Amino acid sequence: MKTKIYDVTALSPETMRRAQTLRERDAMEIVKRAMKYVAEAARVIAAGGLVAFPTETVYGIGANAFDEAAVRRIYAAKGRPSDNPMIVHIARASDIGQLTPMISPAIVKLADSFWPGPLTMVLDRKSSVPSAVTGGLDTVAVRLPDEPAALDLIRLSGCPIAAPSANLSGSPSPTTAAHVIDDLEGKVDIILAGNPCRVGIESTVVDMTATPPEILRPGMLTADMLSAAVDAEVVYDKALLQGGAFSPECTASPRSPGMKYRHYAPKADMLVVEGSRDRVEAEIERLKDMNERIGNKVAVLLFEERSYIEAAHDFYARLRALDEESPGLIIAGALPDNDGAGFAVMNRMMKSAGYNVVRV
Ligand code: TXA
Ligand code: MG
Repeated sequence: MKTKIYDVTALSPETMRRAQTLRERDAMEIVKRAMKYVAEAARVIAAGGLVAFPTETVYGIGANAFDEAAVRRIYAAKGRPSDNPMIVHIARASDIGQLTPMISPAIVKLADSFWPGPLTMVLDRKSSVPSAVTGGLDTVAVRLPDEPAALDLIRLSGCPIAAPSANLSGSPSPTTAAHVIDDLEGKVDIILAGNPCRVGIESTVVDMTATPPEILRPGMLTADMLSAAVDAEVVYDKALLQGGAFSPECTASPRSPGMKYRHYAPKADMLVVEGSRDRVEAEIERLKDMNERIGNKVAVLLFEERSYIEAAHDFYARLRALDEESPGLIIAGALPDNDGAGFAVMNRMMKSAGYNVVRV
């Protein structure tokens, strides 16, 4: 398949403001051209095609959520197992009614507080939502993204858009247009090539069918933030709190429990070093030295201390860039954060490393 790649970087709040308020001719022209591209992409979605598009979290690969055959093509393009459910993206909170019969005050509060934004709510699904979207579950995950190109695409296509992250299954999520082109050129009809994603890690997924609501995937929005918005308890899925770096069973020797835990994975082997900053830095140096002495090329993934939001923004891009250097081993420094962007990054980092961790 020949993939059309369209530049929609002009659909940034900044350029659009210049076009609208200052009426700058150049800005108006490039915004108009980008809007034409999005309109064409919307027609492709409506006709059952596949479009990769930017969101504020990561790029998505989308199809009409009500078109079962189109949704199945997403699985094929990603090489993704078809029991893994997708997030359905809407452009207006009121469109939630197309997908779910269940609206509670808590859902309305979360939508009011965090949409558009990096929050996905798992809700009871209407039977009209194809089971190809929900992986056979009786719930559906819904999100209203905060990105002009994505919102226009959904609005103009006239349907909710089912979209997982636009990476090949198992590889790091794409946060730039170049990542999407690397993974999906030739596999989708159109790639809307926008700006790098502002957030950089996927949305927080909260299960609203659970009491209290339960966060299934950590993201930029934390349990405390959701809890404050609904004025009630919101908890993390216990498995999240016990996983990998947070597990009391972590010992000083590397563990690798196997492929089934390896997601968002770089091609190289990966090891996470956890502990106080000084010790982590020293241990990384020591391991690097040791490996290089036996001819094993090492790449290091270490973020600035306490810059968790930056780490989230850069995580996947850094992972892809390191992989391109073809190291034998990537050694990463853990982020000591219990609830926030650092916690969300650690969830991904531990998966990338297949829970291969040393504590120092
Ligand atoms: O930020 C994001 O959420 C990005 C952008 C493109 O919106 N999308 C994304 O989609 O990360 P994906 O498919 O890579 O991840 C969807 C996550 C998976 O962990 C999936 O298991 C979960 O949401 N999920 C989807 N539907 C669900 C459901 N009905 N119940 C429980 N979990 C669900
Ligand atoms: Mg994904």
